[in-house]
Amino acid sequence: MSETIHVALGARAYDVHVGAGLLARAAEIIAPFAPSGRIFIVTDKNVAHHHGAMLTKALSALKPTLIALEPGEHTKSFAGLEQLTSQLLAANISRKDLIVAFGGGVIGDLAGLAAGLVKRGVEFVQIPTTLLAQVDSSVGGKTAIDTPHGKNLIGLFHQPRAVIVDTSVLATLPERERRAGYAEIVKVGLIGDAPFFEWCEKAAPFVIGTTPEPEKLGGRVHRDATIATAVKHAIAFKARVVEKDETEQGARALLNLGHTFAHALEAHGGYSNQLLHGEAVAVGMGLAFQLSANLGLCGETDAARVRKHLSNAGFVTDLRQLPGAPFDPAKLLALMAGDKKNEAGKLTLILARGIGRAFIEKDAPTEVVRELLQQETT
Ligand SMILES: NC(=O)c1ccc[n+]([C@@H]2O[C@H](COP(=O)([O-])OP(=O)(O)OC[C@H]3O[C@@H](n4cnc5c(N)ncnc54)[C@H](O)[C@@H]3O)[C@@H](O)[C@H]2O)c1
Ligand SMILES: [Zn+2]
Repeated sequence: MSETIHVALGARAYDVHVGAGLLARAAEIIAPFAPSGRIFIVTDKNVAHHHGAMLTKALSALKPTLIALEPGEHTKSFAGLEQLTSQLLAANISRKDLIVAFGGGVIGDLAGLAAGLVKRGVEFVQIPTTLLAQVDSSVGGKTAIDTPHGKNLIGLFHQPRAVIVDTSVLATLPERERRAGYAEIVKVGLIGDAPFFEWCEKAAPFVIGTTPEPEKLGGRVHRDATIATAVKHAIAFKARVVEKDETEQGARALLNLGHTFAHALEAHGGYSNQLLHGEAVAVGMGLAFQLSANLGLCGETDAARVRKHLSNAGFVTDLRQLPGAPFDPAKLLALMAGDKKNEAGKLTLILARGIGRAFIEKDAPTEVVRELLQQETT
């Protein structure tokens, strides 16, 4: 059984297909977007190992060429882009061929960028295989690579023609990666959907996979159904935001709740694997709510509730305990001030008037942020 979430972007509109076992039907979904009948599957070696044979078989009618890159963030680089585009050109890719990004956010971002650039743009389809990619990076058309100046600084908006979210592939995903993806799910509740946050408070162990008794939730909901609900909800929320603001001129920035803190923490640690993006986002969302409470925008109880939930879900929410600690508050603030979302000289942050009531503050008081970071790191 599958469901479709439409992303209404005029000429660039597409469907996100969500369901368990959808890979088997991938050919039927993809074929209309590959007029030449020829496709290039871009993946990483982990995903190829677990699911490559299955997808290649499912897509055999479309004569797939499989390109398996090294796993890891470092592949999302100029070197990775050069390697991928060289392989595509060596195989004589044409503008009527289709690129299929099959992997986590690293592969989606890199293959999407390559698709936007090769031969001045070929179409692509996303088949995300991490929870993070399924609920976040595969929808919305942001593509990028990292540079020594920072993450995601070279990129373009290039919307996929379709997204195929097969929740069954998550079975092979390590628990730590699932938890990291969960951060972007619960983020949706914190931004704009308090009842969904409340649902998450009960459902988190089932989504992340930490409960040994997964069969029932509230007496009836099976784990797979719980994951499917969470995934669909998060995608639908993102789709609605992206429809309103495709290129992040305004409201799309709400999706960055916790991210300015997170990017600073990731940069402080040199983007090492000891702190995954979702782990940084979790602590960042806790800080965004604490800052909102310190500013008198939301109650202390809301901030405490957010942190308690994140901690129950298995995240480290105390900066002093976080991998990479001790963090230098002045350095964190400088990194936050350098974030690409800022407008001249001002610190843009996503703050909240309560759970589910986030808003964009384009001139956050630096002094209060400095105090918070000081208080949290010492
Ligand atoms: N474009 C966007 O809007 C957007 C949004 C959020 C994040 N991102 C980007 O996404 C990237 C992070 O993505 P990610 O967390 O998916 O990381 P990732 O792509 O590195 O995948 C994480 C790990 O899981 C492995 N893996 C993937 N699928 C698997 C599966 N089904 N079973 C077993 N192993 C599997 C990968 O090989 C990798 O080792 C970052 O570069 C971030 O900047 C982009
Ligand atoms: Zn994120």
